[in-house]
Amino acid sequence: MEVSITTLTRRKNGSIGRKEEVKACETLRIGRGAENEIFLLDARVPLHLAALHDGADGLFIEATGSNDLRLNNSIVRKAHVNVGDIIGIGPYDLCIVEPTDGINIAVTLELVQPIGDDVESLLSRSNLTIAKVGLTKRSSSWLFASIVLVVFLALPLLSTNSLFTKYFNDGSLEQKSQSMVNSNESNFDVSWVSGEVMNSHKFFANDCAACHTKPFVMVEDAACTACHKEQHGHIDKIKFPAEELTSTRCATCHTDHQGPHPVRAAKQELCSDCHNNLDQKVEGMHLANVSDFGSNHPQFKPTVWQDPSKGIKKRISLDDSPIEVSNLKFPHKTHMNAKRMRNPVTGKNTQLECASCHVPDISGAYIQPVKMEEHCGDCHLLTFDAIAPKRTVSHGKPETVYRELNEFYSSLALKGGVTDKTAPKVVRRRPGTPLVKEEKKAALQWAMSKTEKSSRYLFSASQCGSCHEVIRDKNNASGYNVEPVKVAQIWQPKSVFDHGKHKDVSCAECHAADTSMKSSDVLLPKIEGCQTCHGGEAATDKIPSTCISCHGFHRDDVAIMASPTGKMVQ
Ligand code: HEC
Ligand code: HEC
Ligand code: HEC
Ligand code: HEC
Ligand code: HEC
Ligand code: HEC
Ligand code: HEC
Ligand code: HEC
Ligand code: HEC
Ligand code: HEC
Repeated sequence: MEVSITTLTRRKNGSIGRKEEVKACETLRIGRGAENEIFLLDARVPLHLAALHDGADGLFIEATGSNDLRLNNSIVRKAHVNVGDIIGIGPYDLCIVEPTDGINIAVTLELVQPIGDDVESLLSRSNLTIAKVGLTKRSSSWLFASIVLVVFLALPLLSTNSLFTKYFNDGSLEQKSQSMVNSNESNFDVSWVSGEVMNSHKFFANDCAACHTKPFVMVEDAACTACHKEQHGHIDKIKFPAEELTSTRCATCHTDHQGPHPVRAAKQELCSDCHNNLDQKVEGMHLANVSDFGSNHPQFKPTVWQDPSKGIKKRISLDDSPIEVSNLKFPHKTHMNAKRMRNPVTGKNTQLECASCHVPDISGAYIQPVKMEEHCGDCHLLTFDAIAPKRTVSHGKPETVYRELNEFYSSLALKGGVTDKTAPKVVRRRPGTPLVKEEKKAALQWAMSKTEKSSRYLFSASQCGSCHEVIRDKNNASGYNVEPVKVAQIWQPKSVFDHGKHKDVSCAECHAADTSMKSSDVLLPKIEGCQTCHGGEAATDKIPSTCISCHGFHRDDVAIMASPTGKMVQ
C-alpha cells in the first residue's frame, strides 16, 4: 500500500508548514526505532509503539507490547479508525485524513508538546519586551557599550589618584619614590586588575601607579627599585656594560598578579638564555657556559687556599687535583682508626665519628668550624714539663703561651719548694720563706731558663708543631710564630649547598675522608657525584634541579640596582 505522511510544523506567526513524504509498505509501523515507517526521534516515544493496518474492514490500529494509545483522547490498545480520528503518540498527534488518488492511507503528524519548551512557553505568556521598556536593540547596545566605557575607561582615567591622573599631573618617578605608598584605597582603575598580587605587595596593591608608572608601558625597573633600594644586582655594570647583559627587566623574573605567594624565578631559561653562550657575549669570559645541570654544567671549581700567609686563594677545578694549603696538619685516616686513637687521659681507645668534629651550623646547611679545644684538646694535651705533668698551657698565640709559661715558672720559683734536683737551691727552699733581692733575681733567672726550655719543647714537632707550621720569629716575644690557619668554611662560594637536605646520605658518599692522610687533600665531591641524583630542569628519573636550586641571583658583592638617577645599575 502507498502511505502519505505529512509532517506539520506550526510557525511563530501562526502559519503551518507541511512536508509530505510517500512510503510503500505492508503495515505502517510507528515508533522510535529506525525501522519504523513513522520514525519519531523523541525519547518519550517507545521503540515500537503501534502499527496501522489497512484490513478488509477498513483501517485498524494496534499498540505493540504493553503500550497504550490515545484515540480521540480515550485510552485504547486496539481500535478501528476513520478519517478525522486523532491518535495520540506520546507528544505527537497523528491524524487520519482523506487520501488523494493513488494513495491508500494519508496521515498528518504534528509535534504538540516539544521538549524544552518551558522557557518558550513562559516567555510566550510574558508581555515584557525590550520595545515595551522604550528601547530598541540599537539603543540598548549603545547604552551598554557606554556603561562599559565609563566604568572601565573613563572613571579609571579621570578618578583622582588613578594611574593616569598621577602620571599626567605630577608624573615624575622621582617625586613618587619619596614616599613608599601614596594610598591603598581602591580606585576605579582596580577594574583593570589581572590577578591577585603577592602578599608582600598587598599593602599598596590598589595603588596601581606604584608599579605601573606609565600608561601603556610595561612595568619599569625604576618602579621596583624605588622601594627595593637595597637590592643588589647580579653583575657589575661597569665591568659588563653590554646592553644584552644589563637589560633584563625585574618583571621578567618577578611577575606579579600570580597569587599571594611570590612566583620563584625557577624557570631554567631565565638564567640559561644568557648563560648558555656567555663566551660570545663577553670577550675573554672567565666563566664557562652553562645551560642545564644534567647535560651542560662545568666541573665544580672550589676556592682553595694556596698561601694563607699572603691571603692567596684560587679556584681550581676538581678535575685538576687541587691541593689545599691550610697550614693545619691533620690525617683523617689515622683519626678514624680506633686502634690508634688512645685517649691519654682515660687510656681507652676511642672510635671517632665524623660528627665528633663536624657539627652542623644552626641552619643545618653548613658545618661549623673545627676548634682545637673542643675537638682535639681531649687527646692532644698541651703539657710542657714533667715536673707538672697535668699542667697545660692554653691554646692561643705564641706570645700568650710564652707569657703563661713565664708566669707559671716565676710564681713557682718565688714560692719555692720545687723538687727538681737540677734547680738552684733558692727554688728548692722550703715554701714561704722570704727572699732577699739577690735570691729573688736568681730564682727568676731559673724561671726564665725553664720558660725557654719548655717553649722550645712546646713549639717543637711534639706539640704545637704536630698540628702547625711553626717558624722562628725574632719579632715575637716567644721567638716563634705559628703560620695562619685557614680552613675554608665555604668552598664553593658561587653556589649554595645544604647538608641538611642530605642528612640521610652517608658522609662517605660525598667525602673520601677516611682514606685521606693529608689535610692538603680536597675532599669534595665532583659534579658526577651530584649528577647521580640531580638532573636538569626537565629530568624525570632524577631530581629536577634548576639553577636557583643551587645558585642565587642577587649578589651582595655587586652594587645595588637602584641609582640616584633612577637608571639601572644591574
Ligand atoms: C607590585 C607592583 C604592581 C602593582 C601594585 C600592580 N601591578 Fe599590574 N603588573 C605588575 C607586573 C610586574 C606586571 C607584569 C607586566 C610586565 O611584564 O611588564 C603587571 C601586569 C599587569 C597587567 C597586564 C596583564 C598581566 O597580568 O601581565 C594588568 C592588566 C595589570 N598589571 C593591572 C594592574 C592594576 C589594575 C593594578 C592596580 C589595581 C595593578 N596592576 C597593580 C605589577 C604590579
Ligand atoms: C611601594 C614599595 C614597593 C614597590 C613599588 C615594589 N615592592 Fe616589592 N616589596 C616591597 C616590600 C615592602 C616587600 C617585603 C619586604 C622585602 O622583601 O623587601 C616586597 C617584597 C618583594 C619581593 C619578595 C617577596 C617575598 O615575599 O619574598 C619581591 C620578589 C619583590 N618585592 C619584587 C618587586 C618587583 C619586581 C617590583 C616592581 C614590579 C616591586 N617589588 C615593587 C615593596 C615594594
Ligand atoms: C634573572 C632573573 C631575575 C631578575 C632580572 C631579577 N631578579 Fe630578583 N630574584 C631572582 C631570584 C632567583 C631571587 C631569589 C628568590 C627566589 O628563590 O625566588 C630573587 C629575589 C628577589 C627579591 C627577594 C629578596 C631576596 O633578595 O631574596 C627581591 C625583593 C627581588 N628579587 C627584587 C628584584 C628587583 C627589584 C629586580 C629588578 C631591579 C629583580 N629582582 C630582578 C631573580 C631575578
Ligand atoms: C643577562 C645575562 C645573565 C642572566 C639573565 C643571568 N646571568 Fe648569571 N652571570 C652573568 C654574567 C655576565 C656573569 C659574570 C659576573 C661576574 O663575573 O661578576 C654571571 C655570573 C653568574 C654566576 C657566578 C657568580 C659569582 O659569584 O661569580 C652564577 C652562579 C650565575 N651567574 C648564575 C645565574 C643564575 C642562577 C641566573 C638566573 C636566575 C643568572 N645567572 C642569570 C650573566 C647573566
Ligand atoms: C678529629 C676531628 C675530625 C674528625 C673525626 C673528622 N674530621 Fe674532617 N676535618 C677535620 C679538620 C681539623 C679539618 C680541616 C683540615 C684541613 O685543613 O683540611 C677537616 C676537614 C674536613 C673536610 C673539608 C674538606 C677538606 O678537603 O679539607 C671535610 C669534607 C671533612 N673534614 C669530612 C670529614 C668526614 C666525612 C669525616 C668522617 C669520616 C671527618 N671529616 C672526620 C677534623 C676531623
Ligand atoms: C681521640 C683522641 C684524639 C683526638 C680527638 C684528636 N687526635 Fe690527633 N691524634 C691522636 C693520636 C692518638 C695520634 C697519634 C696516632 C698515631 O700516630 O698512631 C694523633 C695524631 C695526630 C696528628 C699526627 C701527628 C704526627 O706527628 O704524626 C695530627 C696532626 C693530629 N693528631 C691532629 C689532630 C687535630 C687537629 C685534632 C682535632 C681536630 C685531633 N688530632 C684530634 C688522638 C686524637
Ligand atoms: C692537635 C692539634 C693542635 C695543636 C697541638 C695546636 N694547635 Fe693551634 N690550632 C689547631 C687548630 C685545629 C686550629 C684552628 C681552630 C681553632 O682556632 O681552634 C688552631 C689555631 C691556632 C691559632 C690561630 C691561627 C689563626 O691563624 O687563626 C694559633 C695562634 C694557634 N693555633 C697556636 C697554637 C700554639 C701556640 C700551639 C702550641 C702551644 C698550638 N696551637 C697547638 C690545632 C692545634
Ligand atoms: C651530597 C653530598 C654531601 C654529603 C652527603 C655530605 N657533604 Fe659535606 N660537603 C658537601 C659539599 C658539596 C661541600 C662544599 C660546600 C661548600 O662549602 O661550598 C661540603 C662541605 C663539607 C665540609 C666543609 C665545611 C663546610 O661547611 O663547607 C665539611 C666539614 C663537611 N662537608 C662534612 C660533612 C659531614 C661530616 C658529612 C656527613 C654528616 C657530610 N659532609 C655529608 C657535600 C656533602
Ligand atoms: C645541583 C646544584 C647546581 C645546579 C642545579 C646548577 N649549578 Fe651551577 N654550579 C654549582 C656548583 C656547586 C658550582 C661551583 C661553584 C663554585 O665554584 O663556587 C657551580 C658553578 C656555576 C657557574 C660558574 C661556572 C664556572 O666557570 O666555574 C655558573 C656560571 C653556573 N654554575 C651557572 C648555573 C646555571 C645557569 C644553572 C642552571 C642551568 C646551574 N648553574 C645549575 C651547582 C649547581
Ligand atoms: C643520594 C642522592 C643525592 C646526591 C648524591 C646529591 N643530592 Fe642534593 N639533594 C638530594 C635530595 C633527595 C634533595 C632534597 C630535594 C628536595 O627537597 O626537593 C637534595 C637537595 C639539594 C639541594 C637543595 C635544593 C633545594 O631546592 O632546596 C641542593 C642545593 C643540592 N641538593 C645540591 C647537591 C649537590 C651540589 C650535590 C653534589 C655535591 C648533591 N646535591 C648530591 C639528593 C642528593
